[in-house]
Amino acid sequence: MNYESSKRKRPGKQLIVVFTFIILLLIIVFFLFNFNFFETDKYVEVSKTGTDPLTADYDTYHLDDSRENQQIKYGFELFTNTAEYLGPDNPKLERAFSGNNLSCNNCHLQAGTKAYSGMLIGVINRFPQFRGRENKIGTIKERINGCMERSMNGKPLPPNGKEMKAFVAYLEWLNRYAPQDGKVDGTGYARIKIPNRAVDLEKGERLFLKKCASCHGEDGQGIPLRDYAGYLYPPLWGQDSYNLGAGMARVITAAEFIKTNMPYGASYDKPELTDEQAYDIAGYINQKPRPQKANPELDFPDLKLKPVSTPYPPYADNFPVSQHQLGPFQPIMEFYKKEYGLTKNK
Ligand code: HEC
Ligand code: HEC
Repeated sequence: MNYESSKRKRPGKQLIVVFTFIILLLIIVFFLFNFNFFETDKYVEVSKTGTDPLTADYDTYHLDDSRENQQIKYGFELFTNTAEYLGPDNPKLERAFSGNNLSCNNCHLQAGTKAYSGMLIGVINRFPQFRGRENKIGTIKERINGCMERSMNGKPLPPNGKEMKAFVAYLEWLNRYAPQDGKVDGTGYARIKIPNRAVDLEKGERLFLKKCASCHGEDGQGIPLRDYAGYLYPPLWGQDSYNLGAGMARVITAAEFIKTNMPYGASYDKPELTDEQAYDIAGYINQKPRPQKANPELDFPDLKLKPVSTPYPPYADNFPVSQHQLGPFQPIMEFYKKEYGLTKNK
């Protein structure tokens, strides 16, 4: 009797348990779904106009014409059409601070917002900063003038002039969502594994002709814009290129830039060259003639702080100039580690 009644009752109890379970499950699923749905929605919002420093809106066309915004827009113009405003042939001679017809944008790609191309998002918060080249704490204005005198082979901008103020206004705008310490993924260049050998100039030339000459020309002189000052494809050496004191004149820095940015269209996620190829091409380009930097011996008052691939003497070591230009760099790096306890990566 007991046995039979319990046999009849059990399925009922089980049904209630199963139903409760299913209802609970449905409620949980409903909440999870809602939660996810809500989150996805919020994420889309954030990636469009949000405050993530890497994906925020850096299009100056979206700014209205308030006085402050006009300054930002002028900074963007200077940055992307530098030769038109500051170049040696611009109509206002008193503004000819650049010595060549490059644009800041030629090296700091996508107006300074492309990761690992010397990206400038957050750069304001990274300054003032200790600079080995001058052996002192330098300001952002001094850093901009560093590129004016070397990458642009020109003269420093007056620190309180209209152009310098506009550059800083633009960089401050790029900095608006950066963390306090200015550390944003994509800053500077992506490190490469530096081959433990000298640059192979023959391989460098062959690769250059195959991968680079279609835009920059077999003679490396690029293609000027037709109706404006500046270049469609900038030159890689010669009188209108960066000078010997520029960061790009160092083989390691150039190889890092080339690896993640060239041929045009390459990126950190989609590089087209191997580290070895970038190294050989960088060595080939930087062996070509380019303007001298005035007073190169005054750079790096503390010679120990000079990057190992700086192409001009003096050095705080006895390695030949050719090795500082073409490697192998490991023995030089090991020397600084052993002798001075300094770890060098460029
Ligand atoms: C020929 C390439 C080239 C051009 C053109 C160039 N730069 Fe640079 N710039 C560099 C390199 C390379 C570095 C990093 C050097 C280093 O690692 O020491 C740099 C660094 C900087 C920095 C510091 C970045 C940081 O993260 O600390 C600023 C700011 C800057 N450049 C601004 C400018 C401005 C403004 C212009 C135009 C007037 C300009 N650059 C033109 C190559 C260039
Ligand atoms: C499809 C065309 C194209 C190819 C191919 C190409 N580049 Fe460039 N390169 C450019 C453009 C365009 C710029 C300037 C970027 C800008 O202003 O947005 C540039 C800029 C540069 C710069 C910095 C500016 C300067 O003049 O010093 C270097 C260095 C450079 N390229 C090296 C190379 C090397 C090395 C290769 C071959 C591995 C290569 N490029 C292949 C189009 C190209």
